[in-house]
Amino acid sequence: MSRPRILVTGGTGYIGSHACVCLIEAGFEPVIVDNLSNSSRIVTERVARITGFQPVLHETDLRDSEAIARLVREIRPAATLHFAGLKAVGESVSDPLRYYDNNVCGTVSLLQALDAGGCRVLVFSSSATVYGDPDTVPIPETAPVRPTNPYGQTKVIVEKLLLDLCAADPRWHVSILRYFNPVGAHESGLIGEAPRGTPNNLVPYIAQVAAGKRAHLSVFGDDWPTADGSGVRDYLHVMDLAEGHVAALRHALANPGPLTLNLGTGQGVSVKEMIRAYEAACGSQIPFRISPRRPGDIATCYADASRAREVLGWQPRRSLAAMCKDSWHWQSNNPDGYQ
Ligand code: NAD
Ligand code: UFG
Repeated sequence: MSRPRILVTGGTGYIGSHACVCLIEAGFEPVIVDNLSNSSRIVTERVARITGFQPVLHETDLRDSEAIARLVREIRPAATLHFAGLKAVGESVSDPLRYYDNNVCGTVSLLQALDAGGCRVLVFSSSATVYGDPDTVPIPETAPVRPTNPYGQTKVIVEKLLLDLCAADPRWHVSILRYFNPVGAHESGLIGEAPRGTPNNLVPYIAQVAAGKRAHLSVFGDDWPTADGSGVRDYLHVMDLAEGHVAALRHALANPGPLTLNLGTGQGVSVKEMIRAYEAACGSQIPFRISPRRPGDIATCYADASRAREVLGWQPRRSLAAMCKDSWHWQSNNPDGYQ
């Protein structure tokens, strides 16, 4: 029996690669389009080692409108999971043009190709960053959207574009997924997060300290209004997130119109709690120093995750201990990422 084809933009990236595994296991055929600006082609071989099926990779930039239109005509996907984008907050502040061009223009080019090809089912990677500094936690989907950096602004613009598209044309089926903090790796240790240069995010940084690649972690502030003074976030196992995409895909295939959902656990975890959980997973101490607060950071951010549970019947299953164990397994098996 043939598998329904799913176009996966950014499918060699961190979250996209895990989603490919879940898609294959759920009976779909992912077809990847990625310009490899932040990933490696080796990922497709790793996905094959896990699942027995190697996805085809088209090395193409989404902004190459003609190539994307040709690709859509050729593969006629039943749906698209749209992960491709740039995601470094600091870089988006210093180089906003690059972010608007890549994230907004890349999406417009993709949507034009899908519309022309009659392939109007889409799941979009948005982010909790759209909420900026929330008035209250947990954050429901109805909370005001007010991003504090160009990266977040590109997510808000694409969300609005998708809502406008659904309002204009009832043939579109769209899921907008606002992820909280994805961490961890596939339990095989074959795929994971491979940041280039110094990691921006907490867990990849801790992983490199645990591996001895970095001397210590800087904890960005211990004077936040939280229980232990360090920042609190909603960390979500990347495999739970990937499974959430399969649930959102099935929902989008069956239901027209837009749907906006938070994907998180609904649990806040502090930086200090994360350090302790990682120490338990890797069996050694994580040296850390308290540093000044990082510009633009907020104290606390976690999801009201009830809507995804109600609408998709999806909820995260994996614990904080599993997130740290799988991150460490990936880090220790692949000290230099995919190199
Ligand atoms: P990633 O950088 O690992 O993956 C993104 C992939 O997109 C990369 O493989 C990159 O090469 C590709 N890409 C970028 N621009 C492209 C373009 N113009 N054409 C073709 N390919 C392009 O990032 P990720 O962590 O897997 O994130 C995936 C998506 O989820 C992004 O849209 C990101 O903004 C969003 N997101 C991520 C997080 C997170 O913490 N990782 C949180 C919230 C939202
Ligand atoms: N932190 C440290 N030291 C570090 C890195 C981070 O103390 O070296 C702290 C931060 O101050 C924060 C927490 O760890 O309190 C988490 O920081 P991350 O950078 O891992 O995650 P953020 O929540 O700040 O941001 C991430 C992505 C954003 C995205 C957001 C919500 O970087 O793009 O999650 O999805 F929008």
